[in-house]
Amino acid sequence: MRKILVTCALPYANGSIHIGHMLEHIQADIWVRYHRMKGNEVWFVSADDAHGTAIMLKSKKLGISPNDLIKKIQKEHQQDFINFNISHDNYHSTHSIENLFLSRKIFAILNKKKLIQEKTIFQFYDNVKNMFLPDRFIQGQCVFCNAENQYGDNCDHCGATYEPIDLVNPISVISGSKPILKKTKHLYFRLPSFKSMLKKWVNSGVLSKSVLKKTEEWFELGLKSWCISRDAPYFGFKIPRFPNKYFYVWLDAPIGYISTFKNLCYKKPRLNFNDLWNEQSNYELYHFIGKDIIYFHTLFWPAILEAASLRKPNGIFVHGYLTINGIKLSKSRISALIKAKDWIKCFNSDSLRYYYASKLSNNTNDIEINLEQFVQKINSDIVNKLVNLASRNVSFIEKNFNGYLSKKLSDMKIYQYFVEASVVIEKYFENREFNLVIQESMRLIDIANKYINEKKPWTIQKTEKNQYVLQEICSMGINLFRIVMIFLKPILPDLAIKTENFLISKLTLDSIDQPLLHHKLNKFTPLYQRINIKKINDLIKMCQ
Ligand code: MSP
Ligand code: ZN
Repeated sequence: MRKILVTCALPYANGSIHIGHMLEHIQADIWVRYHRMKGNEVWFVSADDAHGTAIMLKSKKLGISPNDLIKKIQKEHQQDFINFNISHDNYHSTHSIENLFLSRKIFAILNKKKLIQEKTIFQFYDNVKNMFLPDRFIQGQCVFCNAENQYGDNCDHCGATYEPIDLVNPISVISGSKPILKKTKHLYFRLPSFKSMLKKWVNSGVLSKSVLKKTEEWFELGLKSWCISRDAPYFGFKIPRFPNKYFYVWLDAPIGYISTFKNLCYKKPRLNFNDLWNEQSNYELYHFIGKDIIYFHTLFWPAILEAASLRKPNGIFVHGYLTINGIKLSKSRISALIKAKDWIKCFNSDSLRYYYASKLSNNTNDIEINLEQFVQKINSDIVNKLVNLASRNVSFIEKNFNGYLSKKLSDMKIYQYFVEASVVIEKYFENREFNLVIQESMRLIDIANKYINEKKPWTIQKTEKNQYVLQEICSMGINLFRIVMIFLKPILPDLAIKTENFLISKLTLDSIDQPLLHHKLNKFTPLYQRINIKKINDLIKMCQ
């Protein structure tokens, strides 16, 4: 049995969960559910990232305290994830007592190891508002790719991180004025000390080829010390013994992975914190993230873990960005995003999970979604092919055989062929090639439907002689449906529960080679509703 901790990046607590965030949580959730189905011990956590200037600016705008804002948002986020069947074992916040304790502890270790350097630097200062301008208080052009309107900490466009002072043509976000340069002290983490360790680590199979390539570009540009402090006013954790200085949000955010697990340990007494985080841990650790935050996870994070004598991840799983009919959903700019809570008012969660799965693989390509294509895909795959296989057969079973499946199947060879498909299906799940899971499942469903079409149960008269033939053919259809539903269970949890209820049998990988025979089914009720294309307009209206 494998022991695994899976995390999703911690969404900022300054706005709603949109379907771009949901892409990541659905991707991770499918993988988690697959591993749970395999019998592995899997813990799945995420949290709200509650610190930083964006949250401070937002709470100012709303006229409430940052504390009230993050509490309200956390509740909303948790509900959104429940609505999409994201099976987090814990969803915490970085503004927690565990995170405060761990951030300070880790900082103290870095400090003691002389990995923190105090530097006096020039920083942009807003003369109108009388404050230093870190991160999101300042905008300008990216030094690396020249993209316009980038914030002071990292570039949305090319993913590079830099210092605010590196921005070209900067302006203050809060007053619109041109900032001046002023001296201030800051704390830096000596990232370059970890160069050889990082080089080895990134090449140890923890990154995909394209992510490794991106990371290597940063090595070539040269690793720089990383500023981990911010001036007041800031919403975050104060740095002990450095008055008016706060930890930069990106220092305590990934520590949120650890502190969320720590909080989970309180709730699950058999879980042991050190078992997971010690350097010789036999747990595996995987982070699901988007391609905009690679730098933090492939360079800063493993360096901090190494410095703090904690274990490092076994894999960083990076996905691309969601685009809707060609429009890119940027993380903080475009307001017309589809919110998770709006989606769920128009369509069910299995539909989005299925559609994403059909597009997701283990690469960083952007995921293009098209709402018309979405409706068509769900109706054609789930309604016309998958669920139809059950409904067209069960009607005969109910009418003629009192809901009982036959004592044997009409074609054990085909049944066995479906069972054997589990080998590739499992490989696809393990490698996060969910698009291939869907492709293979639909290929099998087509075979099953074709089999029924050829046997034409509707033409078989229920004579004394034929009645077993009819029952065996239809039982075959139901049993093939059951196998494919076992494969799709991690992707379609709601449909899986309905199916289990209908079959009066759990969908498990272990039981795949044992067909349901001489088994009574529950009364059949429709398993899935066709989607109405008109709902697209309802959704678009909600997003305006
Ligand atoms: N708070 C940081 C992560 C800290 S992790 C220690 C952050 N938050 S975020 O809310 O901006 O993004 C959270 C995750 O959602 C990131 O992995 C990001 O890539 C992902 N996505 C945000 N918008 C997205 C799309 N439009 N498409 C796909 N993923 C997107 O970054
Ligand atoms: Zn850039």
